Amino acid sequence: MRSWHGKLFFFAGFVCVLMLTSWHTSKSDNLPSQLHLVYERLLRAEQRGEVLSQELLKVLGQLQNRSIAPSNITISNSSALLEERVLRRLLPSQPNAHIYLPHLKEHEGSLKPIVHLGQRRTGGLSLIINFCDCIVTVLAILPDAVRSGVIEVISPSPHYYPDFSNLKETFGDPKERVRWRTKQNLDYSFLMLYAQSKGTYYVQLEDDIVAKQGFFQSMKKYIEQVLSEEWLFLEFSQLGFIGKLFRTSDLPMIVEFFLMFHKDKPIDWLLDHILWVKVCNPEKDLKHCNNEKARLKRAYKPSLFQHVGLHSSLPGKIQNLKDKDFGNQVLFKGHYNPPAELSSSLEKYQSHTLERAYNGDDFFWGLTPKRGDYILITFTTPQAVKGYFFRSGNIETNGDRFYNTTVEVLPNNNSVKEKVTRGELACCKTSSDGFVQIGSFKNGVAEGEVDGALGQIVAMRLHVHSDSDVWVLLSEIFIKV
Ligand SMILES: *[C@@H]1O[C@H](CO)[C@@H](O)[C@H](O)[C@H]1NC(C)=O
Ligand SMILES: *[C@@H]1O[C@H](CO)[C@@H](O)[C@H](O)[C@H]1NC(C)=O
Ligand SMILES: *[C@@H]1O[C@H](CO)[C@@H](O)[C@H](O)[C@H]1NC(C)=O
Ligand SMILES: *[C@@H]1O[C@H](CO)[C@@H](O)[C@H](O)[C@H]1NC(C)=O
Ligand SMILES: *[C@@H]1O[C@H](CO)[C@@H](O)[C@H](O)[C@H]1NC(C)=O
Repeated sequence: MRSWHGKLFFFAGFVCVLMLTSWHTSKSDNLPSQLHLVYERLLRAEQRGEVLSQELLKVLGQLQNRSIAPSNITISNSSALLEERVLRRLLPSQPNAHIYLPHLKEHEGSLKPIVHLGQRRTGGLSLIINFCDCIVTVLAILPDAVRSGVIEVISPSPHYYPDFSNLKETFGDPKERVRWRTKQNLDYSFLMLYAQSKGTYYVQLEDDIVAKQGFFQSMKKYIEQVLSEEWLFLEFSQLGFIGKLFRTSDLPMIVEFFLMFHKDKPIDWLLDHILWVKVCNPEKDLKHCNNEKARLKRAYKPSLFQHVGLHSSLPGKIQNLKDKDFGNQVLFKGHYNPPAELSSSLEKYQSHTLERAYNGDDFFWGLTPKRGDYILITFTTPQAVKGYFFRSGNIETNGDRFYNTTVEVLPNNNSVKEKVTRGELACCKTSSDGFVQIGSFKNGVAEGEVDGALGQIVAMRLHVHSDSDVWVLLSEIFIKV
């Protein structure tokens, strides 16, 4: 894939935004790989993050420290300026913010972000991508991008949010769900307003999605195709509010609508209502209405974004959304492996069995591993194993990896086991049940050679040492003999 040149903006915090910028600037950042990195790290961070808020607070602390640290690009100065600018921009252009969010009157400053990081940039930017509810490990992920101003981080003041305790339950949604969707409406509105002056287009994404290769080029090409036509948004994914691209010049109207009804409905419904209000004729039928709406929302197929999280920012809400227009990605890689009997303490998910993965027909997908869980490969006859390669996670479910998991073998020769126990073999150390530890998973992958001194191998085992927060997926199993 041809890499495109551009810059990357990223806002983060309790809400975060990433901005992909113009295709007319020419900086040699390799954005697709940076983006990939962001996805990977964010996914991992999220899926590991039991102590989300603590981590977030720590990172926010670091961000604040960072933003007041002396730097060549005077982040602190631009931060102050920017906050002022946001206030100026939000208030006059959004005089109704006070009508829809009356509590703001008591906290005049609450429309400004409490954390801001990154160099202020405007102009020349073409595309803003907005991630929400992600865990901020931005500094660790892409420090250079932050320093150069390619990434920006903000979070709203706590006073920006109204009292969520007296929301009306509507549409059968329980209180927690109403709270969540109301906050989401406010977060999106905040970011849309903030991002308004940053570029020409705005795209809504989330932290638990994967993008197709070349997605940016595809979006750009499509925008150019329909540039002169009338539309309100382009749909690059069919899911909820994901992958919707707006002209930033339309954002004030859209945000005003969202703010007006932020307590009433989820954001994707509100978006659909905007279309309805704009083009549907109540005296005509649904078909007419749908046709009219289709003119204002252009669906691009196949979808460029796919939801991967089985997790969601709303605790207990399992995301099973899959965009059926996403197309097929390579989800596993098959290898020829020596005949073996397979067993595992992990519960498989649907038809993603260990056998199919071992035979190269599928990936293995198991429910959340706990300490002591294992996958055991017992060779039909002992094998002189030369090496091994295990990959956990895949493009769609990148976070479902083996964490704190070792690779172990069971040597055929008892005197070899004794040698290992006595510490005479540099390659390995003993595990339990006569097994010998020869490696472990790092960043989801375990690979290595098997020391010839171990002789013939009866069985191999993947041994989990810590409880995991996520499921586990094995997309590649390769036992080299
Ligand atoms: C921020 O800086 C202060 C003072 O230098 C330090 O005590 C604190 O630990 C730092 N916080 C973080 C999260 O790095
Ligand atoms: C600041 O950056 C410029 C160019 O990027 C460089 O020439 C200059 O030496 C830097 N100054 C400091 C104090 O780091
Ligand atoms: C920082 O901001 C102050 C005013 O807020 C301004 O006088 C000063 O020139 C700024 N410094 C830089 C390096 O932009
Ligand atoms: C077992 O290993 C020892 C050395 O480690 C070797 O001398 C012996 O021949 C081996 N036995 C078999 C049956 O392979
Ligand atoms: C791995 O698991 C062991 C045993 O439960 C534990 O002592 C160790 O701290 C864990 N390591 C990591 C990196 O979680």
